[in-house]
Amino acid sequence: MLIKSKRGWELPESAVTPEHIFLSRRTMMAAGAGVAAAALVGRAEAQAAPDPTADLYPVRRNETYKVERPLTAENVAGSYNNFYEFGTSKHIAHAAQALPIRPWTVKIDGLVEKPQTIDIDKLIRAMPLEERVYRFRCVEAWAMTVPWTGFPIKALMDMVQPQGSAKYLRFETFDTQSWAPGMRSPWYSWPYVEGLAIDEAAHDLSILVTGIYGKPVPRQHGAPLRLIVPWKYGFKSIKSIVRISFTEQRPQSFWERLQGGEYGFWANVNPAVAHPRWSQATEELIGGGGRVPSQLFNGYGEYVAPLYRGRERERLWA
Ligand code: MTE
Repeated sequence: MLIKSKRGWELPESAVTPEHIFLSRRTMMAAGAGVAAAALVGRAEAQAAPDPTADLYPVRRNETYKVERPLTAENVAGSYNNFYEFGTSKHIAHAAQALPIRPWTVKIDGLVEKPQTIDIDKLIRAMPLEERVYRFRCVEAWAMTVPWTGFPIKALMDMVQPQGSAKYLRFETFDTQSWAPGMRSPWYSWPYVEGLAIDEAAHDLSILVTGIYGKPVPRQHGAPLRLIVPWKYGFKSIKSIVRISFTEQRPQSFWERLQGGEYGFWANVNPAVAHPRWSQATEELIGGGGRVPSQLFNGYGEYVAPLYRGRERERLWA
């Protein structure tokens, strides 16, 4: 039997693309490039589009929690950020503008009577928004004072009705590398995850933030929805949340998983307990206020200390 083997570049007649199809493929490719370009333009337009909830701001300030420090300037707070999805530097504000924040949904699942995936605008409009001026203390020993707009997590809990067996809330940030270059780093285990005990989450100080400085919260601060728990080190305050799960098991958070010896689950501010690599006794006020003494529970002890009665054996400080 004679077997004529073709060389790699020799195509059978049947495999040759007829000219009209070849031409129409070129047209399609050109069209495809057009679609991609249009998608980019669409994304740029979406990024520049006014926030659909902008009409809600500013909202009434809740004066319950007084802060003796002056507010940090908006441009200072907005240009000195930690958002590792966009890189390890503090100057990620520009890169973070690539994050598409509409459409955006938040999945609420796990041990709740009413699990749901809710559109962010529907959620924001359904919740009781108020402004809270809080001190904010990063584990790296810098601090700022910021007017957040948000709603108590308790309001969200009332909406989804946790079951009796729910002991923790697990929060998760978006998980896509396409617009977050920091997520290509192999050192970290994405997505960013954080957790609270259910009584911590139900505390009135615990808020889900949608705005800052009387406006919708910008991307570098964790748009369109982030956590703020002001008596804990800042890494607990997870940004750009896409999922909140009610669980029986204590969730393992992003930093705990990476370096559990340095960052624990509870992570309450305590000037008397040093980080393994630096003191927590004082903090630098960003924007120029100098170094000031740090405070137990970041100054919120009168409200939150009772949460930790009976938990003294736990590692309550980061
Ligand atoms: N959330 C996500 N998803 N990714 C992060 O890298 N950094 C945390 C926290 N939330 C972080 C995050 C840390 S370490 C701090 S101090 C605060 O966000 C910083 O918040 P800010 O940039 O709004 O000041």
